[in-house]
Amino acid sequence: MAAPADAAARVQALRSAIEHHNHRYYALDDPEISDAEYDALFRELTQLEAAHPELVTPSSPTQRVGTAPSAQFAAVRHRSPLLSLNNAFSIEDAAAFDRRCRDGLGRDQVEYAVEPKFDGLAITLTYRDGALAGAATRGDGYAGEDVTANVRTIRAIPLRLDGKALPPLLEVRGEVLMLKRDFDALNEAQRAREERLFVNPRNAAAGALRQLDPAITAQRHLRFFAYGVGADDWRAFNVKRHSELMDLLAQLHFPVARQRQVVRGADGLTGYYKSMAAERAALPYDIDGVVYKVNDLEDQDRLGYVSRAPRFALAHKFPAEEAQSVVTAIEVQVGRTGALTPVARLQPVFVGGATVTNATLHNEDEIRRKDIRIGDTVVVRRAGDVIPEVVRSVVERRPPDAREFVMPARCPVCGSKVERLPDEAVTRCTAGLFCPAQRKQVLLHFGSRRALDIEGLGEKLVDQLIDRGMVKTAADLYHLTADQLAGLERMAGKSAANVVAAIANSRQTTLARLIYALGIRNVGETTARDLADHFGDLEKLMTADEDMLMRVSDVGPVVAQSIARFFAEPHNRAVVDGLLAAGVTPARDERRGRARAAVRGRHFVLTGTLPHLTRDEAKDKIEAGGGHVTGSVSKKTDYVVAGSDPGSKYDRAQELGISIIDEAALLKLLDEKS
Ligand code: IVH
Repeated sequence: MAAPADAAARVQALRSAIEHHNHRYYALDDPEISDAEYDALFRELTQLEAAHPELVTPSSPTQRVGTAPSAQFAAVRHRSPLLSLNNAFSIEDAAAFDRRCRDGLGRDQVEYAVEPKFDGLAITLTYRDGALAGAATRGDGYAGEDVTANVRTIRAIPLRLDGKALPPLLEVRGEVLMLKRDFDALNEAQRAREERLFVNPRNAAAGALRQLDPAITAQRHLRFFAYGVGADDWRAFNVKRHSELMDLLAQLHFPVARQRQVVRGADGLTGYYKSMAAERAALPYDIDGVVYKVNDLEDQDRLGYVSRAPRFALAHKFPAEEAQSVVTAIEVQVGRTGALTPVARLQPVFVGGATVTNATLHNEDEIRRKDIRIGDTVVVRRAGDVIPEVVRSVVERRPPDAREFVMPARCPVCGSKVERLPDEAVTRCTAGLFCPAQRKQVLLHFGSRRALDIEGLGEKLVDQLIDRGMVKTAADLYHLTADQLAGLERMAGKSAANVVAAIANSRQTTLARLIYALGIRNVGETTARDLADHFGDLEKLMTADEDMLMRVSDVGPVVAQSIARFFAEPHNRAVVDGLLAAGVTPARDERRGRARAAVRGRHFVLTGTLPHLTRDEAKDKIEAGGGHVTGSVSKKTDYVVAGSDPGSKYDRAQELGISIIDEAALLKLLDEKS
C-alpha cells in the first residue's frame, strides 16, 4: 500500500486527471483517452479512497453518487427568479423584436448573442466559494425543487470551479437534457425489459432528474449546457457582453453551446434561425428553437422586464416536430424485398414544417406495441428529412368503434400468399419477382443514383413499364426504344430519347455498383464494394459458396447466406446473364481499390471541429473504408485528422511525428473528392 503522503498526492493527481477528462469529454466533445482508460483512473481513485477514507472530500469525482435515496425533494426559493422567454413563431416576430430593442435603446443597430434553445429542463446551480452547493429546478420560477443529489451525478457539471477571482456566491443557469443517442439506448433497454418507453428525450431527462434515488439518475447519462448566470452575478466578472460571459463559463469548464454566435440586426437573427433549423436534425440533442439575447449586459438591464419575461431576449421557436392527427386507415405497401409495410393514412396535419398525410408504422409488432388502431388519435412525428412516423396513440381519445389492424393473408398487389418467418418482424409477399410491386421496387433500386444511376427512370415511368408488361427485369430495360417510350404518359419525344440514352450510358459501370444494383438482401453499398474488391469479377462472386463469401471482410453468415441464395435462384442468374448479354460492362474500380488500401486497417484519431463533417460522420466514413477510429494518439496511430481548435492530440501527434491531415485530405484518402 502507498504511504499516506504518496497516497494523498496520487489521489490529487487522479482527481485532476478525471476532472480534466470530464471536461474534454462533456464540454469539449474531444476526449483524449478511451472509456476503458477513464474507468481505470476512476477505479484507482475509488480503491485509494477506500484504503484511506480520510482523503475523501465532497468534491471528489467518486462522491457524485453520494447520498442515499430520499423520500421527496425539498422546496427551495430562488435567489432571483428563473424567468421564461417570450416566444416568436415567425420571421416577422423576430424583426419586431429587433425593432423594439433598437427603439428601447435608441440605436440604429443592435448586437445579439444567439444560441440554440435546448429542449430540456431549466436548472440553477449554486456555487459557494467555487464548490457546487446546490441545484434546483425552475418550479414556478420563484421556488423550485432541491435536486442537488441528482444533479451531482451529472458528470458534465463541475463539482469545483477552478478560477482566480470567483465570487463567494455564483449561480450558473442552464438546461439539463439527454442526448438523442442516450435516449435511444435507454428506450432500447426499456423495451428489452418490457418496461414503459419514454416519449422523448425531454421526458426521459425529466424522469431521470426526478428520481428519488441518485444512483438511478447517474445511470441515465444526463448532460448539462450553461446559458447564463443568476440575475446580477455577471457583475462579479470583468465582462460587458453575454458572449463574453459564455466564454467565461466555458473557461470555468461548463459545457456551452458550440453553435453560439454573435450577430447584428434582424437579418443576423433570421440568418441564424435558418442555419440552426437546417442543422437541427444533425445535432446530438433536441432543440426547439433559438434564443436571441441583446449582447450588451448593461443594455439588457436598460431594457428590463415586462411581467415575467425579459424585453432583451426572445425565443424563436421551430415548428413542432410532433402533432396529433387521426388514423383514417391502415394500408399495406409492398417493398423491393416483398416486405409488407403498414402505413397509416392520416387526416392532414402540419408537423415539422410540412403537411403530412401518411406515416410509416414499420411492421405488425410495432402496431401492437404502440397499440395503434384505425380511428385512433395519434402523435405523429416528422423530424428533419426523416420519414414521418406514428409515435403513439392517445388512448384516452379512442372512439368506441376503433378497429385493430390485421395483416392481410395475401399480398395486396399480386394476391400471392404472404409469410412471416418465425424470428422476423416483417411479413413478406412470397411471389418474389413475380409480384409487380416488388418488380417495380427492384427496377427503381437498379436505376437509383448510387446503383446504375439511370436518370429519368422514376416511379411514374416504372409503374407504366411494369403495368403494361413492357419490362419484366432490369435486363429488359436495355432493349427499350425511344418510340416505345414515347407512347407512354408524360413521355414526350425528347424525354423518351433522354431516358433511352441514360439507360445506354449505364452499361459502363463499376462492379461494385452493379452488385449493389442487383438488390441482394443485406448487401448495401459498402458490402457491395467489399465483394467487388475481393472477387474482382461477377462470375467468381456468383459461384462462391458461403465459406468463400465469409472470407470477405465484414461478411458474416447471414450476409453470405443471402448472397448464395440470391445466385442459387435461376431467375436471378437469368437476369445477370441478360444484363451481360445486353452489354452491361462492370469494370473493377481500380482507383477505389487503391484508395481503400490507404484507409483499410489504418488507425485514425479525430481532433477539433471539421469544416463539414461531424465527428460521427467522419468516424462512419473511416470505418466504412475499413479504418479504425481511436480516442487517443499513440505510436499505432497512422493519421490525426485535425479541424479548427484542435486539442492536445494535435501536439501529441507532432511529438510522435504522426501525419496530421485535414478534412479535405481525409476525403481524398477515402476517394470522395479528388
Ligand atoms: S435564457 C431570462 N437561453 O427556455 C431568460 N433559456 O422560456 C432566461 N432555454 O425554461 C433564459 N435554452 O430553460 C435561455 N439558450 C437558452 C435556452 C433557454 C433553453 C429554456 C430555459 C427556460 C425557457 C425559457
